Amino acid sequence: MALMQWNEKMSVGVIELDADHKELIKVINQLGANAEDEARRSATRQSLFALLRYAEYHFAREEKVMAACQYPDIREHELEHRDFVERINRLHRRFDEGPEEAAAIVDEALLTFLQDWLKHHILIEGMAYRPHAEHSPAAREAAKSFKASEVWWSR
Ligand SMILES: [Fe+2]
Repeated sequence: MALMQWNEKMSVGVIELDADHKELIKVINQLGANAEDEARRSATRQSLFALLRYAEYHFAREEKVMAACQYPDIREHELEHRDFVERINRLHRRFDEGPEEAAAIVDEALLTFLQDWLKHHILIEGMAYRPHAEHSPAAREAAKSFKASEVWWSR
C-alpha cells in the first residue's frame, strides 16, 4: 500500500486544520504499515482506535471553525463526519469478534477507502470551506483556541 502524502495543494487555509489533516494521513499510513506486517497485527486495533480518536478531535475542531466563519454548507460536511465516525466505530467493534476476524478487517480495500475518504475530505470538502475560513479572524481564533475537552463525540 503506497503511503499517502500531504502537499501544499491540500491546504485548507487554516494552519491548525492542515496540521490535523497531516496527522490523520500519518495515522492511516501507520494502520497500513501495521496491517502488512503479521507480527504487528495486534497494533492494528490500536491504530484504528487512534484514527477514531484523532478523527473525532479533528472533526470537532473543523466544525467549530466552519461555524465560526458561517460556512453555509456546514450541515452537509457535519453529516459526512458522523458517517465516518460511525463506520470506524463499527470496524473497531468487530475486533471483539475474534483474532481471525480482526485480521481480515484491515485489508487493502479498507486502506483504499480510508485514503480516498481523506482525499475527498481535504480536496473537495476542505477546499469548499477554505474561501470562508482562510481570511476569517473568527475561524482562526476558533481553530487556535480549540481544546480536546471540546470533543463531544462518543460521550
Ligand atoms: Fe478536515
